[in-house]
Order: sequence, then C-alpha cells, then structure tokens
Amino acid sequence: METATSYLGFRLPHPFMAGASPLGWHLDTVKRLEDAGCAAVVLHSLFEEQVTLAAGGRIRHMDPLNEEFAGALAHFPSAGDYPLGPDEYARHVSRVKQAVKIPVIGSLNGTTAQSWLAFSRIIEQAGADALELNLYEVVTDVTVPGSHIEHQLVDVVKELKRVLKIPIAVKLSPFFAAFGNVAKQLDGAGADGLVMFNRFYQPDIDIKTMRPSPKVELSTSAELLLRLRWLAILHGRVRPSLAVTGGVATWDDGIKALLAGADAVQMVSALLRHGPAYVSAMRHGLEQWMEWHKLTRLDEVRGRASLKQTADPAAFERANYIRALQSWRS
Ligand SMILES: Cc1cc2nc3c(=O)[nH]c(=O)nc-3n(C[C@H](O)[C@H](O)[C@H](O)COP(=O)(O)O)c2cc1C
Repeated sequence: METATSYLGFRLPHPFMAGASPLGWHLDTVKRLEDAGCAAVVLHSLFEEQVTLAAGGRIRHMDPLNEEFAGALAHFPSAGDYPLGPDEYARHVSRVKQAVKIPVIGSLNGTTAQSWLAFSRIIEQAGADALELNLYEVVTDVTVPGSHIEHQLVDVVKELKRVLKIPIAVKLSPFFAAFGNVAKQLDGAGADGLVMFNRFYQPDIDIKTMRPSPKVELSTSAELLLRLRWLAILHGRVRPSLAVTGGVATWDDGIKALLAGADAVQMVSALLRHGPAYVSAMRHGLEQWMEWHKLTRLDEVRGRASLKQTADPAAFERANYIRALQSWRS
C-alpha cells in the first residue's frame, strides 16, 4: 500500500503531520512526534511583534514605554511570556534540525512586509527545511478595502520568495470575497504551499464582568467542512501544495481532507488531546480504509471528491446550497 505524498517538494511517507503549536516548543516533544511516525513538523510561530520588540523596542510601531500606547499594547504578551525569543527560536530550529530526520518547518506569524521578515533568512540559515508564513489578521479598519489586504499578502510572499531558497507555505484565513482568486495570486507570487485555514479565536463575552473572555478551545470535526469545500475547489486549479489545518479530529476527517484534495494533513488539537501516537492511528485508519476500498496508492484517493472534473464549480456550489435548504423536513 502506497500512502506517500508530496508536500512543498518533500516526499513524505504519509500525509499526517503536526501543525504549528506548543508541540514544537520542546525538542523532546518533536522527537516523540518523529518516533510516533509524524511525517513532518511545523514549529510554533515566531511573531512579528516579538521580532520588532526585540529589534527596535516597538510593537506595531508603538513604543511600550510611551503612555499614549499603554492601552493598545496592554493586551500583548511581554517578551518573557513567549516560550522562545527570536534568537532562541533560531537556535531551537537548529537544535531540532540536528536531532530529527523529518522535515522541520519554521513558522513566522505577522501581517506586514517589513523588516521583521529579514528574520526568515535567519530561520533558513538555522536549517529549517521550509517556512510557514501565517498571515493572521483581523482587519478592523473600515476604510481598508479587501484589495489592499490582498496586495499586502502577495507582496509579503514575493518579498520572501526573493530572499529565501527554502519553500514557503502560506497559512491563511478563508475570509476573502473571492478566496480562490487570492489562492491564485499567491500561486503567481511563488507560494509553494497553502495551509487552510487559520482558526479565529473569537473571544466570547463574560456576562458577569461584561468583558470579552478570550480562550483557546481545541477544535472538533465540525470545523472541517469549510476546509473540505475550499480544498475541493482549489485541487487541480492552483500549483502550490495544499495542506489542511483545522478540524481533523479522526482518521475519517483525514480521509475526507485527502478526498477533497489535500496533499498534507496538519493536526494540532487531536495531537494535544491524544498525544503523538495518534499520528500512527491516523495512518493505520487510512490504510485500513484504502484496503477496504481496494485502493493501493494515495493518488487514487487525493482529490477524488474535488470539483476538478466539474465544469462549473460555482453552479455546483449553488445547486448544493439550494438542495440542502430544500432537503429540510420538520
Ligand atoms: C495551543 C495552540 C497554539 C497554537 N500556536 C500556533 C502558532 O504558534 N502558530 C500558528 O500558525 N498556529 C498556531 N496554532 C493553530 C494551529 O496550528 C492550527 O492551525 C489550529 O489549531 C487548527 O488545527 P486543529 O484543528 O488541528 O487544532 C495553535 C493552536 C493551538 C491550539
């Protein structure tokens, strides 16, 4: 049975890998992931805010010592709250790389195409096999049009492609009017992979304190459907590899992501819940399912439920929407 796949140009024995998270904080955990059969690992992110704070004492151009910005900056963690500072992060990449054989993907997390991106070279020099760029942003400025944000994304990727030799994956939000076109633009900018999608940690409101109450909940399979839809739409239509992140809780979820068109399946919540050994359960689940369906190669699985062969995917999506509404019976 052949479960090998290719992601960012790496040949992986199977598609299941660890996504960016605290699983990357400690060398021992990364080694445990490798021992458990994880195909690759994305380390936790180094944040733009950490780099600009360490380099110039500022966060988003604001000086934390200036009282004028105290309110705006009060919500950011202080430098010591992050598991690793920028230089330590580079040393960590290097140590991890020396200790494991699986591809090690560094992660930068920010929103602008500015000087902090120079740090990507340091991560590359530290030995990272690839870089995942997480462009998490909630655009709250009501005067900024979507096209401006799209240009910004594309510029960051072009800039990074100019300076880096290692492959770049871009981890994105689905909240664009035309996500497919954003994917196409990133393809044109040279992105080697698209990672779909960021989860938005939307704070709830505590009615006792009447204040927002942010907390990280681990995901469930319910979050997968949005990802399946966009994997299915993009499979075969863009050149970058496609990875899913968000809502892969069981092997069935992993199989669905592959059927929709994923080249790689990233997991975080499931590994935090069940531990690294869950990777081999995922692989085993996939193999058993392939055997049951008499499928011998992953190529026969990947994208089988995508819209690649659909002449008019928009009409298909619209038809599904109407049919779903009409199928309701009380
Ligand atoms: C505790 C925790 C820490 C995370 N840290 C990062 C991070 O540093 N960088 C990043 O890009 N994503 C981070 N994520 C998001 C995950 O990489 C992933 O995209 C998300 O959890 C959805 O995948 P899942 O459903 O498999 O958990 C984090 C998630 C969790 C739960």
